[in-house]
Amino acid sequence: MKKIGIIFGGRSGEHSISLMSAASVIRAINKDKFQIVKIGITKEGKWLLYDGDADHVEDGTWQEEAEKALKENPDKYNITILGAGGKSIKELIDFALPILHGPYGEDGTVQGLLEMADIPYGGCGITGSAIAMDKLIAREIFMRAGIPVCKHIAVFKEELDNDFQKTIEKIEENLPYPVFVKPANMGSSVGITKAKSNEELKHALKEAMKYDRRLIIEEYINCRELETAVVGNFYAEAAAVGEILPSAEFYDYEAKYFDGGKSKICIPADIPQKTADEIREIAVKAYKLIDCAGFSRVDFFLEKETNKIYLNEINTIPGFTKFSMFPLLWEEAGVSCPDIIERIVELGYERYHAKDNR
Ligand SMILES: Nc1ncnc2c1ncn2[C@@H]1O[C@H](COP(=O)(O)OP(=O)(O)O)[C@@H](O)[C@H]1O
Ligand SMILES: [Mg+2]
Repeated sequence: MKKIGIIFGGRSGEHSISLMSAASVIRAINKDKFQIVKIGITKEGKWLLYDGDADHVEDGTWQEEAEKALKENPDKYNITILGAGGKSIKELIDFALPILHGPYGEDGTVQGLLEMADIPYGGCGITGSAIAMDKLIAREIFMRAGIPVCKHIAVFKEELDNDFQKTIEKIEENLPYPVFVKPANMGSSVGITKAKSNEELKHALKEAMKYDRRLIIEEYINCRELETAVVGNFYAEAAAVGEILPSAEFYDYEAKYFDGGKSKICIPADIPQKTADEIREIAVKAYKLIDCAGFSRVDFFLEKETNKIYLNEINTIPGFTKFSMFPLLWEEAGVSCPDIIERIVELGYERYHAKDNR
């Protein structure tokens, strides 16, 4: 039986979301086919082997238990990914499934470590992960391929430090209010503000700069938010299209995770078949373009007045809880959560072995 290492937690602000996703994956995975090895990363970046319950992964108490186990039995629990000083992860697992959201996990860093350690893994490789995480670079690539994205400009911290006023003027000359201000590399709406005035823009820039020195400023699209779930390597396919109905003015951090279920998901989205097909087609095209693999969720805006479709972003490790769009979209397409996880493992092996033939 293959030993699958589920990697969860991580250094990003989305640590706790990763715990929820990983607990769902641990519960759903087919235990007749796979043996689970749980590997948690603390917020400080320490890797810990954990052999307790999925519930404790979810509620965060895994860390204390794993640290205690390590202290009591270092021979068994001291693990290392590269180098000496512990049991190497390559000996512990056959395959890794990183269920990490945001920087230091969804951005190619952990994927790079796994490549170095020669461990096959699920999901996108380094390139796809890094590009998808970078909203500025991803947009440039999509635009070149004729994929519709909303109007935006790049702003760097150095420009703001040198001449704050001039940079504000540059933004105002290019985009009308309201604008969306975002860190180029983040997720879960962290650091994102909708700015409706000069005053709010100044505030929004300072907020976004806490998270990244590269910012993206976008025109506001009065839109419906549609998402589809892609699975595959070169031959990829998209599941159904779903709609997010945020409880707040936009789908911010609170609305995503802490509004007590007031934000709604509608599957399939109530849109014409032609629009759904177009979204699925663009999703697969964008996925291949930036070298995604395994699985990703691709998010769109559908402008209300014009019905124009814009690609917003690709999430290479989307939320994977019972209530998350990604597994629910596949369920709608007739593929169960355990089956989709198994497919992700197969695709990871396919990519790993493809390298042998280069
Ligand atoms: N240009 C935009 N126009 C309208 N709403 C937007 C725009 N950009 C972002 N939003 C809103 O903000 C949310 C988060 O933005 P997004 O770019 O998806 O960042 P994240 O990577 O944090 O999910 C979106 O789901 C949407 O509700
Ligand atoms: Mg998003």
